[in-house]
Amino acid sequence: MSGRMEQDAARERRKDLARFFGTWMRNPVKMGAVAPSSARYCATMVASATTEVDGPILELGPGLGCVTRALLEAGVDPARITSIEYDAEFAATLKDRFPAINVIQGDGFDLDATLGDGGRTRFAAILFAIPIVKFPQEERQRLFSRYFDRLLPGGNLTQLSYLWKPPVRAVPGRFDVSASDIVWDNIPPARVWIYSQAGAAPLH
Ligand SMILES: C[S@@+](CC[C@H](N)C(=O)[O-])C[C@H]1O[C@@H](n2cnc3c(N)ncnc32)[C@H](O)[C@@H]1O
Repeated sequence: MSGRMEQDAARERRKDLARFFGTWMRNPVKMGAVAPSSARYCATMVASATTEVDGPILELGPGLGCVTRALLEAGVDPARITSIEYDAEFAATLKDRFPAINVIQGDGFDLDATLGDGGRTRFAAILFAIPIVKFPQEERQRLFSRYFDRLLPGGNLTQLSYLWKPPVRAVPGRFDVSASDIVWDNIPPARVWIYSQAGAAPLH
């Protein structure tokens, strides 16, 4: 990257930090984070996701697009990516930044309504970053079970979370959970939580 491009990228990161923090101040529960994830964290999220499985990729809670960018940097075809973001201003920014991906402004908890596909689309990977701490454990497990209905064979779900134990406990016969190493340069340090179909040898 040239010096000029590096300066532009650093300026955009600073602006994103300020904007993210402002949105968090207005709605901390919905945002769940004071800052966008670090580039290393986003790369870990993508490396943990089963993007090599053939099929579309679903990103839930993309914010200002750091995981989206990491997907593209990893060589994922933009035509495979659908990103669902609830915040209308963030969704508009994502559409500007990544015109080749399918950005939908809507609720990532209700895929049938938001995708409007009658439940038909199955994904190679779901990259999930929506805060769920307000939900009791059983509701989180039900939610993730519904996401597993949307995964292709061999596909997995990866989750951004700052918790140090599995945010969603494994459901026997349905999905198992494992974690990446801690990414220390994230604010705060965090792991990627990886949910794989029960009994399947995790690909990562
Ligand atoms: C913790 S931030 C993660 C942002 C980005 N993925 C990152 O890693 O920096 C959570 C994002 O989820 C979005 N969000 C919250 N509730 C949502 C929902 N029901 N559906 C879709 N997105 C939602 C927020 O607006 C915010 O952009």
